[in-house]
Amino acid sequence: MTATRLTRLPEYLFADLEKKISEKTAAGRDVINLGIGDPDLPPPDSFTKSLQLHAADSDAHFYSSSRGDAGVRKAIAKYFKGRFGVELDPDSQICVVLGGKEGLSSLGRAFVNPGDMVAAPSPAYPVYAQGVATLCDGKVQTMPLTRENGFLPDLNLAEGARMLFVNYPNNPTGAIATEFFWQSLQDFADTHPETVVCHDHAYSEMTFGDYVAPSFLQYTKNAVEMHSLSKVFNATGFRIGFCVGRADYIAALVKAKSQIDSGAPLMIQRAMADGLAGYRGTEPPREVVEIRKIYGERRAYAEKALRELGLDVIESPATFYVWAKVGEDELPFVQRALDHDVVVTPGRGFGQEGVGYIRLALTQSLDRIKLAMQRLG
Ligand SMILES: Cc1ncc(COP(=O)(O)O)c(C=O)c1O
Repeated sequence: MTATRLTRLPEYLFADLEKKISEKTAAGRDVINLGIGDPDLPPPDSFTKSLQLHAADSDAHFYSSSRGDAGVRKAIAKYFKGRFGVELDPDSQICVVLGGKEGLSSLGRAFVNPGDMVAAPSPAYPVYAQGVATLCDGKVQTMPLTRENGFLPDLNLAEGARMLFVNYPNNPTGAIATEFFWQSLQDFADTHPETVVCHDHAYSEMTFGDYVAPSFLQYTKNAVEMHSLSKVFNATGFRIGFCVGRADYIAALVKAKSQIDSGAPLMIQRAMADGLAGYRGTEPPREVVEIRKIYGERRAYAEKALRELGLDVIESPATFYVWAKVGEDELPFVQRALDHDVVVTPGRGFGQEGVGYIRLALTQSLDRIKLAMQRLG
């Protein structure tokens, strides 16, 4: 009855975890969910106030456009120049998206023909392989991310691909890319006009200490980059982000989107613009600095506590995910954690190369994370 592509699609990673959590919660258990990367903290006050303010704009009820509001695109260009030092033409190089997930899958619609190869890392955010390749009847070329390769893909594997996805700071491994990797990727993008290179920058602002994540557009103009406000503005439910880069790629994205959505709600676009306007160069608004500080403290604590529990923890200066090796097979660990009412994500949920690893999302208070570590101990 359904399209055959749907039968090739596994159940979304977190659907199964959510079912188990609901069963436990219904049974009255106090479950600590370190599974999904959905921030527990509220968005900055100024962000919600801006949203309320713009809800009263006289044009707020109108359709926006699939490309996004012109004023908002100008604000994105200004942010991008200050934050990354990259000039963007607001009219041709920017498209507002309804969250990175929508943007990524719409990019797939714009570029992937049936049978085309999509190069996707593994482990990875599942949308590259499933939301893009499978839903467009393409094929996945897996690029393993391993401890040995520093969780950076071998780009030779992407030869002949229609699309290539990378993501740094990385979900689920927390890895950041080296200068050498960015230059190799630049070389690939500049010499492979048949491949659309997409850098997914969902965690661009989720960094700690001195590390500042670069944009891939600082290296080349031959790419697109997906940005999202979901994580560092604690705004997953508002569904807002933007895609920037090569004008013909953005035009294709807008064309595909114009058959799918009619633009993100204007009030949310404008709240995003106000949020980005709080940046002074690479320095985020005060509230974002606060949010980062909280995640950074959680990360430092969790990395140490897990190491003390004997886990092989991959240390990182970015993202609110901790990636740790627990053995050859991670499922017994995940089940034991669940028996103690702690939810962690099995690495295999992000691809076969994640077998043996677990991912913890630090989206609970430090006290709850401490309690989770006691339960795991
Ligand atoms: C790597 C990566 N990309 C994109 C997204 C999509 O985020 P959103 O659709 O909320 O912008 C996520 C969310 O978890 C992610 O981890």
